Amino acid sequence: MAHEHANGYLAMPGVQLVACADLSRENADAFAADFGLSGVYTHYPTMLRKEKLDIISVCTWPHLHAPMVIAAAKSGVKAIHCEKPMADSWGASLKMAEAAKKHRVRLTFNHQRRFGAPFQTALRLIKSGKIGKLTHLESYVPNIYDMGTHWIDLMGMLNHESPALWVIGQLDCRTLRRVFGAPVEGQGIWQWLYENGVHGLISAGSQMGGKASLRARGTEGQIDINWDEPVLHAKLRGMSKMKVIPLKENIHGPGFVARAMADVVKAIRQGKTSQLSAENALKTTEIIFGCYESARVRGRVDLPLKIRDNPLEAMIQSGQLRPKAQPKPKK
Ligand SMILES: NC(=O)c1ccc[n+]([C@@H]2O[C@H](COP(=O)([O-])OP(=O)(O)OC[C@H]3O[C@@H](n4cnc5c(N)ncnc54)[C@H](O)[C@@H]3O)[C@@H](O)[C@H]2O)c1
Repeated sequence: MAHEHANGYLAMPGVQLVACADLSRENADAFAADFGLSGVYTHYPTMLRKEKLDIISVCTWPHLHAPMVIAAAKSGVKAIHCEKPMADSWGASLKMAEAAKKHRVRLTFNHQRRFGAPFQTALRLIKSGKIGKLTHLESYVPNIYDMGTHWIDLMGMLNHESPALWVIGQLDCRTLRRVFGAPVEGQGIWQWLYENGVHGLISAGSQMGGKASLRARGTEGQIDINWDEPVLHAKLRGMSKMKVIPLKENIHGPGFVARAMADVVKAIRQGKTSQLSAENALKTTEIIFGCYESARVRGRVDLPLKIRDNPLEAMIQSGQLRPKAQPKPKK
């Protein structure tokens, strides 16, 4: 992902790449060679101390996001753009946002799918009332933590960034699967209510082959966004049935990450808040950890969340869930 961020920055006039840090010397050298960097480090605190940086991109696995973001915020940079999911626990997610606020640093998260044509088109249709009043948002994802963070973020974007009031649901974790180091459920189903009265529903399960989809229902129509082509279908006000809405790009882009980086840089230059803000990412992340907490307490969880851990990890560590180890992939 660091390469994607770098290409995104370079596409912005006036942005210069200065330095990189990677624990692996080989990876750091390769990255520096690809982008012609003079500052190459294997210890990121040294980079933060020695270089005078305006923006930092954090592209490591989720358990490293919080310590890296907090260190960068303290170092005096102006902005930090961090990969998703926010962090490996709700407490770490809150701490990153608090550190950014305290040190007056802009903090954004790479929920870059927002900039894709299917979602931007759906947003325009919803905002212009083409499905009447939005009432339901429903998604399918392989898991709610890794892929789900994008889809729950997209549901938030389509729903005017409304926070959720409560979450309820359950999961199954009979086989331990970790994505970028964090545990994810095998299957799950959850519902929540947004503050503005819209209902959210998500079902998760890796048996669907990594595909994700989203449906927005309103009082006068429906929009479906599918992984495979044709991506966008809708029944808009006055239409008798669902029709394909042609798009110039598929669900992956190209260039979503570059569009995300452009939004972040533009927001800094114009003194505005990027739609990828920590504030929006927290709303998504609170739903994710709220979903896992609902499974732990076997009931509805009212937000704001009072817990600080990752309930799924805690249930595995305590033995409340006893998943079998994931079988090694066949060679
Ligand atoms: N936005 C998206 O669509 C998207 C897609 C894929 C991955 N991601 C996210 O990007 C993040 C990174 O994923 P990736 O695929 O690039 O991972 P990766 O494993 O390819 O790269 C991580 C890099 O971090 C380095 N690293 C590890 N510990 C370090 C430390 N202490 N200091 C400095 N460097 C360290 C590793 O050596 C490696 O080069 C994850 O959070 C993942 O969820 C986002």
